[in-house]
Amino acid sequence: MTVLVTGASGATGRLLTGLLLDRGCRVKVLVRSASRLPDHLRRHEGLTSVEGSVLDMSEEQRSELVAGCSSIASCLGHSINVRGIWGPPYRLVTRSVECLCEAVRANRPDTPVRFVLMNTAGNRNRDLPEPVAIREHMVLGLLRLLIPPHRDNECAADYLRTRVGGEDPFLEWAAVRPDTLLHRDEVTPYELHPSPVRSAIFHAGETSRINVAHFMAALMTEDGVWAEWKGRMPVIYNTGA
Ligand SMILES: NC(=O)c1ccc[n+]([C@@H]2O[C@H](COP(=O)([O-])OP(=O)(O)OC[C@H]3O[C@@H](n4cnc5c(N)ncnc54)[C@H](OP(=O)(O)O)[C@@H]3O)[C@@H](O)[C@H]2O)c1
Repeated sequence: MTVLVTGASGATGRLLTGLLLDRGCRVKVLVRSASRLPDHLRRHEGLTSVEGSVLDMSEEQRSELVAGCSSIASCLGHSINVRGIWGPPYRLVTRSVECLCEAVRANRPDTPVRFVLMNTAGNRNRDLPEPVAIREHMVLGLLRLLIPPHRDNECAADYLRTRVGGEDPFLEWAAVRPDTLLHRDEVTPYELHPSPVRSAIFHAGETSRINVAHFMAALMTEDGVWAEWKGRMPVIYNTGA
């Protein structure tokens, strides 16, 4: 099984890449610079790295990138600095998701490709009744205005939910929504919910990146897990957090 990971040099993407290699997948990673990958990944015989950004690729290059991949994961996120948050590309995640989905469709694969997006518990699934208190609604409105990456995360999930939806013959999707991200070395028990069970703003939970990576790897490689969560936006919390 060959899979593609974007944002593989990031804190979560590198964990996901490692877990997919451990599961015996051949992993193609798209990174701005392969030097940002840890040595143990770079040296792994199951890893192929492609340098660049999907936004700068031609249609042909994108088609070649996704060809033969049964799953694609996006762990892209804006760098946490002034340029990353307030500078271009303002729609890094959304445009990357769109470009990759269009490339998959252009290839017309025999079996639908699984697209797994790393999203956020701060985003709502507008297909479900996910009530938001007025004060949270106001804070989210401000975040949308002032922090472009938040809007980008919302738009990326909206694209999958409304433009890929449930009827695309070439694509299926899931958007994983962690709460406040933590670094831990080991996978620990975690819980999955169809919708947030706490406020991401006023009573945030915690999610280890390694747990996010573990669940994303399971979605990409395990049919039972995929059957349960495809077309949905599971929220993941560390158990007991
Ligand atoms: N912080 C939280 O508590 C939290 C909670 C829930 C969800 N999230 C979301 O989770 C996602 C991933 O989080 P993370 O901590 O694993 O992210 P991260 O460590 O910052 O990794 C971000 C990845 O995106 C890549 N990237 C950034 N700007 C790029 C650009 N202009 N072009 C191409 N690639 C670019 C980075 O590549 P380089 O290595 O080349 O920089 C890196 O691979 C983000 O979308 C974030 O919004 C965060």
